[in-house]
Amino acid sequence: MKKTILIASLLFTMLLQAQQTVHIIPQPSSIEMKEGSFIIDNNTSVKFSKNDKAVADVVHFFTEYVNKVSGFTLKANQLKGKAITFNIEKIKEIGDEGYLISVSPTGILVKANTSKGLFYGVQSLLQTLPFIRTNDLVQIPGMEIKDYPRFGWRGMMLDVSRHFFSTDLVKEFIDLLATYKMNVFHWHLTDGAGWRLEIKKYPKLTQQAAWRVDSWGKPWDWAGIEFNADRSKATYGGYYTQEQAKDIVAYAKARNITVVPEIEMPGHSEAAMAAYPELSCNPKNTFAQSGNFLASKVESNYCAGNDQAFTFLQDILVEVMAIFPSKYIHVGGDEVDKKSWKNCPKCQARMKKENLKDEKELQSYFIRRMEKFIVSKDRKMIGWDEILEGGLAPEATVMSWQGEAGGIEAAKMGHDVIMTPGYPLYFDHYQGDPETEPLAIGGFNTLKKVYHYEPIPAELTAVEGKRVLGSQANLWTEYVPTYEHVEYMILPRMPALAEVLWSPKESRNWEDFNKRLHPHIVGYEQKGFHYSKGNYKVDIKPIVANNSLSIALETENAEGVIYYTTDGTTPTIGSTKYDKPFVVTTSMTVKAIMALNGKVMNSKPAEQSFTFNKATGKAVKYESVNSRYYPANGINTLTDGFRGTKDIGKQWHGFSGNDMVATIDLGAPILASSISLGTIQNWPQWVFFPQWVKFEVSTDGINFKEVKTVNNTIPVDARDTQIQDFSIKFPEQKIRAVRVTAKNLGICPAGHPGDKQAAWLFVDEIIVE
Ligand code: ACM
Ligand code: ZN
Repeated sequence: MKKTILIASLLFTMLLQAQQTVHIIPQPSSIEMKEGSFIIDNNTSVKFSKNDKAVADVVHFFTEYVNKVSGFTLKANQLKGKAITFNIEKIKEIGDEGYLISVSPTGILVKANTSKGLFYGVQSLLQTLPFIRTNDLVQIPGMEIKDYPRFGWRGMMLDVSRHFFSTDLVKEFIDLLATYKMNVFHWHLTDGAGWRLEIKKYPKLTQQAAWRVDSWGKPWDWAGIEFNADRSKATYGGYYTQEQAKDIVAYAKARNITVVPEIEMPGHSEAAMAAYPELSCNPKNTFAQSGNFLASKVESNYCAGNDQAFTFLQDILVEVMAIFPSKYIHVGGDEVDKKSWKNCPKCQARMKKENLKDEKELQSYFIRRMEKFIVSKDRKMIGWDEILEGGLAPEATVMSWQGEAGGIEAAKMGHDVIMTPGYPLYFDHYQGDPETEPLAIGGFNTLKKVYHYEPIPAELTAVEGKRVLGSQANLWTEYVPTYEHVEYMILPRMPALAEVLWSPKESRNWEDFNKRLHPHIVGYEQKGFHYSKGNYKVDIKPIVANNSLSIALETENAEGVIYYTTDGTTPTIGSTKYDKPFVVTTSMTVKAIMALNGKVMNSKPAEQSFTFNKATGKAVKYESVNSRYYPANGINTLTDGFRGTKDIGKQWHGFSGNDMVATIDLGAPILASSISLGTIQNWPQWVFFPQWVKFEVSTDGINFKEVKTVNNTIPVDARDTQIQDFSIKFPEQKIRAVRVTAKNLGICPAGHPGDKQAAWLFVDEIIVE
């Protein structure tokens, strides 16, 4: 009997322990759950050394939050009652930013080498508390944590040039970074679309270059940008005064975040050139004074042959360095259009004098000269990976955005590197189905892709790998006009990146991350944060195999349960639950949703129609090579039942320059009386209708005879996107196989931007009826 009670109580304890979980993101290096909880109430106090202001600030940060979510005011350094103690001690292994936490029912102890470590300990504790004030008991589960980061550079970039965000909003952004233990805020302060920092020596930068006539229109509508000092005309923009910028620096510092300012040079500087056209290669190409300009007249670069341009930038950097204590000063350096330098006598004279063989070396000269200045002020220069072109400045740190190649090259040369490849770390890309997401720059950087990013490329040796200081995501804001949208683009991808950068590589676990993320999402809902549900997207995928078509439904979310319909009705959690691919034998529309804990997570079901015909599901053989750029659904795109739409990025299979010769074996002789091939013309994307389509049939699958060749009649210069089925009809007969040849236009026609270069042929389906 006693034994039974003992076992029962043991089981009960185990159950209690099993139930105790926390959902800390990023996942701590080590965490062990213990029995019991520490309950916070009005008798709880905080203990710390008041002599250390940095520590007192961290404790204040903690008590403020507790007060907000519980109403309790934690008193400082009481003799009686339960306490949460914050200590600075010498602790091995955990470094500057690490911390230890011990939680028991009788007390909490947070220890670290520095106040930074204590701050991160606090962030972990806060993630165990409610997100908003409720009447629930405020308790922290018993646990032991030992935690420290994998990388020293855990960054997020925000572009405030394309769209301006006030200091209050920048602070909200910084708060989010701090929650997830990110420690670098890369502030993209200048670009072609607006200058955002007060520079006292050059007031026109903010009087004029910070303000544009609000005709931005579409995200890339550059012709609409017009800078103007007349506030009644130029109503869009803004800038940070030096005091405001210093306030941001202090606000970030209190959250262990370094603000790295970026002042773009020598390119991406249209706004600065609008205010100071004399510093460009073509001062006459001014749109500043006139108040309007032609896009072709925009000067984007500083003149590399003009010493005044260097003086100007150095003066600016002196003021920048007085505001930003960051060791790193970012000088941009990306996407320099060298045309104006090529045609500029001053730039050409500079090249001759300095023995520079081309404009790439002139760019390198520019950046090296700026680096020399930055180093003379005891700072370090960082730039986008184009600074490698023409020779890297001696001490430069490279931010690798065009993939990882630049970062790898720089690390091999012994330079420090920050990895921020466009895929998957540009957060201006879609994170879910474009049908349900706000307009973004094409391409998918989904939550799962971000979560699986590895900052140290396999190509690097262990020593070279140490050159990778860390990584960051970049949020360019051409497509992101409001702060709500900023929040949306970084949640929940930024927490995923935070885990990549903080947690041990071995502990990365997508399923577990999904489990821990869910309570954060609940918190976003409670706090009214904007976040993407892209991770709940359901992909409807055709599988052509064994002469049949089946449909697979997939979601990235590890916890998601999928429900679907095939009759056009909207699926609910009462609809068929998906467990494995199902075979399609008729035309249908599949609609699918994903649910978590019985709750539908999508704002709209995924939807895909399938057109079923006698060729559907049959294997396709090609005589020419298929494009690697436009694979659509791969080799069997022509028989997968998916019809393409005017969105050429989706279901269209592309052939560059060459013809399509596709043979389909129907498996057995079948009765048929028509064959069609679906095609599209999209003039701006170099996609043209075939010149003609030849249809052949075979009764034995070996010998083919032509039924008919259908000529294209739509002009090659028809610029609107059009879809056209080339079709033939014939008296019903038994056929075993069809062969369809589509004659590529070959090269783009005269008068087209791609004149004489390979034309694309796009096809989506062969239909046999
Ligand atoms: C960049 O995206 N041009 C750095
Ligand atoms: Zn020049």
